[in-house]
Amino acid sequence: MTTAQPRSPMEKLLALEMVRVTEAAAIAAARYMGRGDRHEADRAATEAMRRTMDDMDIAATIVIGEGERDEAPMLYIGERLGRMEGEDGATLMEVDIAVDPLEGTNLVATGSGNAITVLAATERGGLLNAPDTYFDKLAVGPLAAGKVDIRLSPTENLHRIAAALGRGVNDLTVIILDRPRHADLIREVREAGARISLISDGDVIAGISTAISGTGVHALMGIGAAPEGVLTAAALRCLGGEIQARFRFRNESDRERARRMCGIGDEDYVFKTEELARGEHLVFAATGVTDGEVLQGVRFFGGGARTHSLVMTYRSKTIRFVDTVHMFDRNRPPSVRL
Ligand code: FBP
Repeated sequence: MTTAQPRSPMEKLLALEMVRVTEAAAIAAARYMGRGDRHEADRAATEAMRRTMDDMDIAATIVIGEGERDEAPMLYIGERLGRMEGEDGATLMEVDIAVDPLEGTNLVATGSGNAITVLAATERGGLLNAPDTYFDKLAVGPLAAGKVDIRLSPTENLHRIAAALGRGVNDLTVIILDRPRHADLIREVREAGARISLISDGDVIAGISTAISGTGVHALMGIGAAPEGVLTAAALRCLGGEIQARFRFRNESDRERARRMCGIGDEDYVFKTEELARGEHLVFAATGVTDGEVLQGVRFFGGGARTHSLVMTYRSKTIRFVDTVHMFDRNRPPSVRL
């Protein structure tokens, strides 16, 4: 007996369109690899993302972007993008979009691995309008989903993850951002006996890797940017993993902004995956900029470039790794090799 696949024309249409956006941003940002200028790399990715999205047959609203209107020249929160109207004058599909044009600006500036371009798209109201503050995060893959609780100690959660995975705590690897604020967390995880991978940046791809077998990563723990938490939630929803998150404010104005944008100003409130990315028709796309464990970086060749992306849909349950050859010079024959 075959079970009918849930259909989502919206996801179907968006999935392959959205990967064009992350691909364009990745190619633009990759030109800045190792050049020591994170702002230029970010600007290039942002411009490419905006240009590509604005040319699409959608009526999009940026809900997570480069900042609020007065602080970001483009891809600011509330910006409307896309062609808006079809040739018949009818409004095109309304979508909310969360973007991080370049996740890991420093990684590109220094030529380090795991920088990506990333976005999530869904129906209106399907993504939490997370302000630019911090989240304390706990992310795990499908086997440990539903078994962890961020309010418990890291030690307790490690034991729960180990039990869910049928292995010892000393066979777990936890990714943690290498920041002074994590000194106590790192000490506790070490005392519990788990292995740690300290990363300099890039907790979205780290969160995603908890849900992909073969990466050797079993949990992401610690404090990182809140908007990145929403993007991680969109990906983990597609992959069947879980992220839990609590606000960690830098000051009272952060708290006020959170209250205004998403109605929560309480650091004890625990957001679950489905609250961060609740859309029923949900698409996630990411493209590698520099080489990483999950995605290869952009590879340039004479007249073109090759990109590697992950594109996923929630409702229709598709997970695609997309390998694209882009020819910039139309007069050259395509250069394709395995
Ligand atoms: P950028 O892409 O903006 O440079 O951020 C990368 C990142 O490492 C995120 O992955 C992470 O959530 C956040 O920065 C951590 O913030 P901070 O550097 O302030 O600790």
